[in-house]
Amino acid sequence: MTDTGKRRILVTSALPYINGVKHLGNLAGSMLPADVFARFQRLRGHDVLYICATDEHGTPAELAAQAAGVSVRDYCNEQFRIQKDAGDGFELSYDYFGRSSGEENARLTQHFAHVLEEHGLIEERNMRQVYSVDDGRFLPDRYVEGTCPHCDFEKARGDQCDNCGRLLDPVDLIDPYSAVSGSKNVEIRETLHLFLLQSKMQDTIRAWVEKSTDWPPLARSIALKWLDEGLRDRAITRDLSWGVPVTNADGSIREGFENKVFYVWFDAPVEYIGATEEWAKAKGEPDLWRSWWRTDEGADDVEYVQFMGKDNVAFHTVSFPVTILGSEEPWKLVDRLKAFNWVTWYGGKFSTSNKRGVFMDQALDLLPADYWRWYLIANAPEGSDAAFTWEGFQASINSDLANVLGNFVNRITKYCASKFDGQLPATGNAGEAEAWITEELQTRLPQLVEHYENMEFRKAAAETRAIWAAGNEYLTKAEPWVKYKTDVDAAAVGVRTGLNLAALFGIIAQPVIPEAAGMILDALGIPDENRTLTPESLKDVPALLDALPHGLAITPPDVLFRKIEDDQVAEWTERFGGEG
Ligand code: MF3
Ligand code: ZN
Repeated sequence: MTDTGKRRILVTSALPYINGVKHLGNLAGSMLPADVFARFQRLRGHDVLYICATDEHGTPAELAAQAAGVSVRDYCNEQFRIQKDAGDGFELSYDYFGRSSGEENARLTQHFAHVLEEHGLIEERNMRQVYSVDDGRFLPDRYVEGTCPHCDFEKARGDQCDNCGRLLDPVDLIDPYSAVSGSKNVEIRETLHLFLLQSKMQDTIRAWVEKSTDWPPLARSIALKWLDEGLRDRAITRDLSWGVPVTNADGSIREGFENKVFYVWFDAPVEYIGATEEWAKAKGEPDLWRSWWRTDEGADDVEYVQFMGKDNVAFHTVSFPVTILGSEEPWKLVDRLKAFNWVTWYGGKFSTSNKRGVFMDQALDLLPADYWRWYLIANAPEGSDAAFTWEGFQASINSDLANVLGNFVNRITKYCASKFDGQLPATGNAGEAEAWITEELQTRLPQLVEHYENMEFRKAAAETRAIWAAGNEYLTKAEPWVKYKTDVDAAAVGVRTGLNLAALFGIIAQPVIPEAAGMILDALGIPDENRTLTPESLKDVPALLDALPHGLAITPPDVLFRKIEDDQVAEWTERFGGEG
């Protein structure tokens, strides 16, 4: 933190894999909470850099491109566009959304491999791999399918069985066949690969995890579980052509690795740095990324927060730190790591082929981003998995957004328009009802800030809602419409306070529902510089409740939220699946 209290916060969300638009569960488990956190910290006045990218290498991309009959490069170009548009549609406020197939990532990945090898943490080993005689190539990971040795499922993929969920080694499959050609003419051959000697880093990684006491519990417990099982050396190259080439220090291709590239999980996290470099270049200040990543060049005061689903934790708490710490170079390490459980579709899996669940692009055809954002944050899969249900979604939108927030803002702005000529009234003195709401806010606003600081998104949403609800309770106590008949000044206080509350509600709504919040703040004519949640701006609650200039012109906003009707729920259940 600097003298002014301004923090520098680096936020990353796990890089969405390139093949296919992500579903709401993927969104809810990394990109969305990262965005909400980034928005919150910007409102606090901090210097935030939110970086994400598509994760483009590996077998799924190669196979999907083949299936589509296009080159991997073209396939990725198109899919990147689609994911970028979906992110924009959901108002994900990335400072930069990069691509792991860029040259920055390749150079950094190769650099890390070279220094790790110098430090004795990478070595060549012979490995048994499935080789397809008819295809004339090795079959890494998903290139080979066969019968699962654990559950006898006949279409298990080389890296994982979709039936029992176990991770597999391709050579363990029974009756293996090529996923490219279907050929069963396969054999096991030896071939060279690079291994990352994670076992040598066991103590270093454990010491680092153990001192990272302010990680949220889920991430910490998963990391410790992996450490307890013991870190294993892992192959970090694959027999593929799409990926980061394996080079010597002079840039030439390493002998024996002409047809191999780095494993996607070795280069993907490096893209956090690579994308920051892309960002700096795009800004025309090519060295700017260094002050975010190099602790010897300014990054020592950066707070780095990562967001991800629980399946990603091992890679971020073990493998990537092995790369970073093993390099013995002054790279920034993650400070806090927030992991999520799954959002399920009525307790089951999202699946395009079985028409179960809504994907990001489809969601935006049904309703504005804010509706989904609110539901997914209010029901974030933090303590356990969280089931998406249409009924829960409908109830949450209709109650929290339409009734609690939307009605409040409509009621008070319309009342001001009809009884006070659309001008913020100046007369009347604060009384009991105002004292009550002041006290409510004095307790609740710091709690809201604390929940966000702790990255407890459900609690932050619940507190936001509680603050909106307190506004409705305030109006019930203040009763400006009753008082108006006998004492216009007393009604004026209620309307003035109510309008200031509407402004505050819009301000605190911004991280989660930025579009609707913007509409509220526009209707109230709040200038951008006053839309903040800085400690100073929240300090003096009585001042907050009389912050808007007296006489300010108020235009009621258009309908902020439309209620979700039962027939819509019925139609969507039919289309995207639901109970029964
Ligand atoms: N693409 C991976 C996934 O979808 C996440 C990669 S995160 C990174 O699970 F750290 F590797 F970048
Ligand atoms: Zn199985």
